[in-house]
Amino acid sequence: GRKWTKVEQLTPELSGQEVLVRGRLYTVRGKGKSAFLMIRQRTATVQAVMFADDVKVSKGMVKYACGIPKESIVDVGGILTCPEAKIESATQKDVELQVTSIRVVSRAAALPFELVDAARSDAEIAAAAEKGEVLASVSQDVRLDNRALDLRTPANQAIFKLQSAVCQLFREAMLSQDFQEIHTPKLIAGASEGGAAVFRFDYMGRPGCLAQSPQLYKQMAICADFDRVFEIGPVFRAENSYTHRHLCEFTGLDFEMAIYEHYFEVLDVIEHLFMHMFNGLATKYAAELEAVQSQYPFEPIAAKPVRLTFAEGIKLLQDDGLTDVDPLGDLNTELERRLGKIVKDKYGTDFYILHRYPMAIRPFYTMPCPDDPAYSNSFDVFIRGEEIISGAQRVHDPELLTTRAVACGIPVDTIQAYIDSFKLGASPHGGCGVGMERVVMLYCGLNNIRKTSMFPRDPKRLEP
Ligand code: 4AD
Repeated sequence: GRKWTKVEQLTPELSGQEVLVRGRLYTVRGKGKSAFLMIRQRTATVQAVMFADDVKVSKGMVKYACGIPKESIVDVGGILTCPEAKIESATQKDVELQVTSIRVVSRAAALPFELVDAARSDAEIAAAAEKGEVLASVSQDVRLDNRALDLRTPANQAIFKLQSAVCQLFREAMLSQDFQEIHTPKLIAGASEGGAAVFRFDYMGRPGCLAQSPQLYKQMAICADFDRVFEIGPVFRAENSYTHRHLCEFTGLDFEMAIYEHYFEVLDVIEHLFMHMFNGLATKYAAELEAVQSQYPFEPIAAKPVRLTFAEGIKLLQDDGLTDVDPLGDLNTELERRLGKIVKDKYGTDFYILHRYPMAIRPFYTMPCPDDPAYSNSFDVFIRGEEIISGAQRVHDPELLTTRAVACGIPVDTIQAYIDSFKLGASPHGGCGVGMERVVMLYCGLNNIRKTSMFPRDPKRLEP
């Protein structure tokens, strides 16, 4: 059999050896009797050179290579050598492949855009502009329309590695704190978060909803004695808002746990979880972070957890000159970001928790504060001034739950089984939902959630 070598394994130790590589033709440049090819495997690249010497390589072969369309999959065989000068444009800088054979395995059609254009940073474009040069850039919609090409850039490869890492680190932190992974249904009878933002469909002749969260079912798992549960799964929101941070389908990292005294027990778990996540990303994924940074520069986050009450948050905004902020109203994106800046200046952190929210702006299942029912045992968590989590202690008394559902205009018959679960005895409990794409977006200081969703779904996009 033939011996396949990975591009990332092409180092000077293999110098003089014959190797065979399968990769994409990233770039190709012909020059007289020679051709210079850049072969790419995921993010690793190596230069391959061909010289027509009429012994092993003919002129026709060089011409053939120069005609292979970019992004085609090719098998390239040859001898690995160490060139005198480093190949700065390759990731494998110290080696070069002297090609003896090349074969097209899968030919790429005309590209909708050049991959090198999609991999360019704004800074590079601006620097070129200063010298009077115009470098191409690719719009977000064109990228998303051709996502199978767009995802091949180094920054995108890194973003989805980080996404996988966030889920892995979430799972690790949950398992290490005695949580059990569960899978709840996504085809359900009633809206889990209430409101209009629900996708409805025909379920064998009766109305069904796509789950807006695992909320009701993770709570029922608590009623069923699974003391601590978590789930990584899809969340559907028919939210007709076209913004930088809303998707119609995203991945929810949810957990729910029995609590003994106070909803701060949930906050303790969250802080432990995120310190594990931030630490893991910074220490084990430095190369990916650098790859994202080189196209989309960002400051690493300062991640020292800080807890403030909602009222304290409002006070900070008022003290900052926003005297007409409603102390019982919700924070819009602009106010959230403003508060993020204030908290950063005052406490030196990009990661903080606001808790004790006004009851009126929280979902029906949220536990009111025992000392003042105008407030609730609930919280949101922020990175760089934008919400990544919301959560709370839940109402576990079925009568109060019914009253709250009715008050919020929720048809009780659609969630009756959920309410009934609490009639058989239910522990006090709380939990939260984390927006996975938002975590990656905000950790990396990216400006749009579509960058951290592999195939984003928004009000205008159902394809690809
Ligand atoms: O704030 P949400 O709607 O809360 C819940 O779903 C509750 N059941 C959570 C709980 O356990 N009490 O959603 C939770 C998180 C938000 O903080 C946000 O990060 C993310 O999910 N999120 C979205 N992400 C992308 N697109 C959307 N349309 C999102 N809506 C919420």
